[in-house]
Amino acid sequence: MKTLGIIAQKGGTGKTTLSVHLAVQGTTEGMRVLLLDIDPQASATAWWKRRREQQPELIQAGGADLKRILEQARSQSYDLVIVDTAPHSSADSSACARLSDHVIIPTRPAILDLDAIGATTAIVSEISASCVIVLNACPPPKLFGEPHIVSEAREALKHYNLPVCEVAISQRAALSHALIDGRAVTEYEADGKAAREIARLWETIKRDIDL
Ligand SMILES: Nc1ncnc2c1ncn2[C@@H]1O[C@H](COP(=O)(O)OP(=O)(O)OP(=O)(O)O)[C@@H](O)[C@H]1O
Ligand SMILES: [Mg+2]
Repeated sequence: MKTLGIIAQKGGTGKTTLSVHLAVQGTTEGMRVLLLDIDPQASATAWWKRRREQQPELIQAGGADLKRILEQARSQSYDLVIVDTAPHSSADSSACARLSDHVIIPTRPAILDLDAIGATTAIVSEISASCVIVLNACPPPKLFGEPHIVSEAREALKHYNLPVCEVAISQRAALSHALIDGRAVTEYEADGKAAREIARLWETIKRDIDL
């Protein structure tokens, strides 16, 4: 079983969006996936309640229960657990990072988001957690290369000395529309650009965690 923690102290960076999309990618490949929602806002839980499919499975819990639930999951033949966390929750984020095999830190590429990322990178750096920063809600790529704001964000992120995922997820309406009835973009617009980006992100994460 592999555990993927999704943390960012800043709100609205895409923690839940990436959590549910990566969870669905796993189930599409026949994996048994548990989405563990430890955010009191319970956005992933709300998405899951609107969902018709049985997979992924979901448990809503408090951060204090994280260790116990992961231990239980380990004995229940899950292939992957994805933990969606709350913003402004350094204790829970830190516990999640410690208990995960790999941490994803989503960030938007705008300067205010990059200014705020230090609070999250400090959590993973302090414990030398395996992690990757994923640029999310970026302007879509141009014909030749990435938009300036994305390459500038990559440059600024070098300061933190942490890996930045080569796949940037674009701001695309399909990524939020799909969630309305509990789907992921790969189920809503399977041949679309958003689905392709999510699939590429999934491939890089699978490689990172050796899944
Ligand atoms: N790549 C994207 N394209 C379009 N909309 C996006 C994208 N990423 C996130 N959003 C939208 O931005 C909002 C915030 O995203 P999300 O809820 O995933 O962030 P979060 O980090 O989980 O927020 P919180 O910190 O409140 O838990 C949502 O309305 C979501 O639909
Ligand atoms: Mg969220």
